[in-house]
Amino acid sequence: MISGLTMEQRRYEPGRARGCLLGCVAALLLWSVASAQLKYSISEEVNEGTVVANIAKDLGLDKSTLKDRKYRIVSGNADPLFHVNQNDGILYVSRKIDREEVCAQSSTCLINLKTVLENPLEVHYVGVEVLDINDNSPTFPEEETTLEISESVLPGVRIQLKASRDQDSGHFSVQHYKLSHNDHFRLEVKDKGDDGKIPILVVQKSLDRESAESHSLVLTALDGGKPPKSGDIDILVNVLDINDNAPIFTQDVYSVMLNENAPVGTTVIQVNATDLDEGPNGEVVYSFTNSMNKRLLKLFDINQSTGEIIVKGLIDYEDKDRYEIEIRASDKALAPLATEKSVIIRIVDVNDNAPEIEVTSFSSSIPEDSRPGTTVALISVNDLDSGLNGKVICSIDEDVPFALSPSLQDKMYSLVTKSTLDREKQSQYIITVFAKDAGQPSLSSEKTISVVVSDVNDNSPEFSLSPYTFYVTEGNNPG
Ligand SMILES: *[C@@H]1O[C@H](CO)[C@@H](O)[C@H](O)[C@H]1NC(C)=O
Repeated sequence: MISGLTMEQRRYEPGRARGCLLGCVAALLLWSVASAQLKYSISEEVNEGTVVANIAKDLGLDKSTLKDRKYRIVSGNADPLFHVNQNDGILYVSRKIDREEVCAQSSTCLINLKTVLENPLEVHYVGVEVLDINDNSPTFPEEETTLEISESVLPGVRIQLKASRDQDSGHFSVQHYKLSHNDHFRLEVKDKGDDGKIPILVVQKSLDRESAESHSLVLTALDGGKPPKSGDIDILVNVLDINDNAPIFTQDVYSVMLNENAPVGTTVIQVNATDLDEGPNGEVVYSFTNSMNKRLLKLFDINQSTGEIIVKGLIDYEDKDRYEIEIRASDKALAPLATEKSVIIRIVDVNDNAPEIEVTSFSSSIPEDSRPGTTVALISVNDLDSGLNGKVICSIDEDVPFALSPSLQDKMYSLVTKSTLDREKQSQYIITVFAKDAGQPSLSSEKTISVVVSDVNDNSPEFSLSPYTFYVTEGNNPG
């Protein structure tokens, strides 16, 4: 029995076991006062039957008379922790003792026993201190916890966490805390004496939800055992959004070509802006800026949720060939942030204008003796379109004695005579001028000019007969 106990003792209290009389467990005589009170100590959790001490010997009792004196413990407890062997006065542990159960968290756990001997009656008080062993690990009230911290908090903000408890007392209670490695947080511990040590999470670097929306931390509590026992809690820090990002357009420059006469409802371009924030802070709405020209508001519209710019009115290249529209992307936060951008719309000409022919100078008639090359009229052509759509070629019928001669001036022609005229042959010409642009498909127009050939005295009177031949009968009277 006793040698078995030695083994137990080695496991729990190797240092004390050595030199312990009788090879007993922790039967250590601490001190003995005048009242003859004895004090022993024993580790908790030792096996039932473990020897605490030889009380009889410590009291100096005569072993031979012991049997008759009925040495016992007076106890009202139905579940006694200790008993004494009446024959030899040795104190034993009656059952495994859990210190935390018997003494809760109190720092010393002293069990007082009243022992009695008869013949003559003697009372001896015996105290047994149950020593703590590190049989409990620190624990947290929960296995995991979630914290919500705004990304606007400044470094230095402190968040008190729930403390870890360890049922063991003294050195075997929670001694320190460790926080898993993290750039944003560090740990401070507030020592509240008997109320334990309280971990405090300190923000040491600002949080940015846009770079990390949560942080997973592990807080470990350690007791003072050798080796220490520990307990963990997982801490999830959710970073709450604030509206710290404005929408950003995905393109630096928006530039687009749009055909003139594009039908109402045509999508000109879709702009896109993104906002890194969350929820309404990150929802983008599009609009034109306040400074937008009223005239442009009649031509273009913007879809506030999709960012599509849509044709709303008649787009006329001849009216304006380039528009610059100021748009804005704003988020939906209570205090919204916005970004502005220009959209350049270049209008592409389509061949929607026919050439116009104008006769600028015209003498109503031309003498029939005019020399070839005489200018009859000046013709100017114009086409509102640009490029090939506005490049005009002019022509007239081949079968008239007139020709078009290009003038030095652009888009001007002279209508000149090609050969001599003869009023007496043809006194009026109706000339059709054709103008055609080089667009695809091309548009054309025509104009008629009436040229009157005026008479010149180019004919001598002529006798209708020459020579006149007369036949006169002879014998006429004079007259
Ligand atoms: C806007 O840009 C973002 C990021 O490039 C993209 O995910 C999204 O699909 C785009 N939206 C539209 C409407 O193009």
